[in-house]
Amino acid sequence: MSLKDQQGAQTVLSPGSTIGILGGGQLGRMLALAGARLGLKTHIYTPEASCPAALAATELTVGEFDDVDRVLDFAKSCDAVTYEFENVPALSAKAATSGAPLRPNADALNVSQDRLVEKTFLKEKLGLEVAGFAAVNSLDDLRGAVKELGLPCVLKTRRFGYDGKGQVIIKSEGDIEGAWDRLSPAECILEAFVSFEREVSIVAARGVDGQIAAYPLTENVHKNHILYQSTAPASQDDGSAAKMAGQILETLDYVGVMGVEFFQMATGDLIVNEIAPRVHNSGHWTQDAGCTDQFEQHMRAVAGWPLGQAIPQHGVVMTNLIGDEAKAWKTLAQEAGVFIHLYGKSECRTGRKMGHVNRIVKS
Ligand SMILES: Nc1ncnc2c1ncn2[C@@H]1O[C@H](COP(=O)(O)OP(=O)(O)O)[C@@H](O)[C@H]1O
Ligand SMILES: [Mg+2]
Repeated sequence: MSLKDQQGAQTVLSPGSTIGILGGGQLGRMLALAGARLGLKTHIYTPEASCPAALAATELTVGEFDDVDRVLDFAKSCDAVTYEFENVPALSAKAATSGAPLRPNADALNVSQDRLVEKTFLKEKLGLEVAGFAAVNSLDDLRGAVKELGLPCVLKTRRFGYDGKGQVIIKSEGDIEGAWDRLSPAECILEAFVSFEREVSIVAARGVDGQIAAYPLTENVHKNHILYQSTAPASQDDGSAAKMAGQILETLDYVGVMGVEFFQMATGDLIVNEIAPRVHNSGHWTQDAGCTDQFEQHMRAVAGWPLGQAIPQHGVVMTNLIGDEAKAWKTLAQEAGVFIHLYGKSECRTGRKMGHVNRIVKS
């Protein structure tokens, strides 16, 4: 099905080919649905058989992410492999690469799964502005880092944090020991607290031929550290965020969709918060904006196809349905101009992303 060169670098997959996806959450589900529209088969690798992606995919392998042999067998059954979360273990990423082209590549995983490596890469390699940071491996380190960076500040685990999990705000010296007790013995990073004006993000894609397509700037509001609402296109976009995202994509020789989160200061200056080497929650609005949505865009890139149009026809406000909020589906279904996306999760827990709605903004 595929026209492979020796490294698989320029592999172009025809319809009917199989794209493997490591991870079976809602992002995997929406990637599989988009793939189906393009005539591509999807094979999900997940530790949980009854995952959100299960119903949407062509095939399912149930296995642990650190089961290197299983991942290799899975990759061999696919024409290309991608992932829907950044915590794929390095050895498994290597195994996947031996079985099929891995897109985005393993470098993107290495950089984004460790906040210390990520911030160092953004600052030292690319010269981008990030929050002040210091590595913290002990209570003594933490005391020293708080002196250096000042109060307030945020202690975060270097790895495995998401939706605000694995982070504690330190407001006064009296909070230091409690914060360390909560996150130790994990390796941590301390970040200066950024008094931002607003949070924005760029979702952008890069194809196998180096073509880049960035969606417009999106403004994001978080509640309890979880994304609540995204509005696109955001006001006052001077194009600098998309330029930085392009720089990151090129430096990593990246193929696929990436999300880049920024803090924007009152001066307009942008500080990069973090990068996600995958489709991103702040890009869900693209599904109902009259352009190629981020899921199709990612599948196109992974399949080696030309990228689609990333210019929306109208504005969209995306609102996440967290926990019980998804129970309002019937009321939402009665609202005109609302597009409902539910993830099919059987268990509804507080703080769990159950779905989202896109509301068209009338211009
Ligand atoms: N250094 C910081 N200064 C101010 N707010 C922060 C800082 N770090 C995180 N936050 C807030 O917490 C949210 C989640 O943190 P983030 O680092 O993006 O982790 P994740 O999204 O992986 O949970 C951010 O979007 C922001 O609202
Ligand atoms: Mg984040």
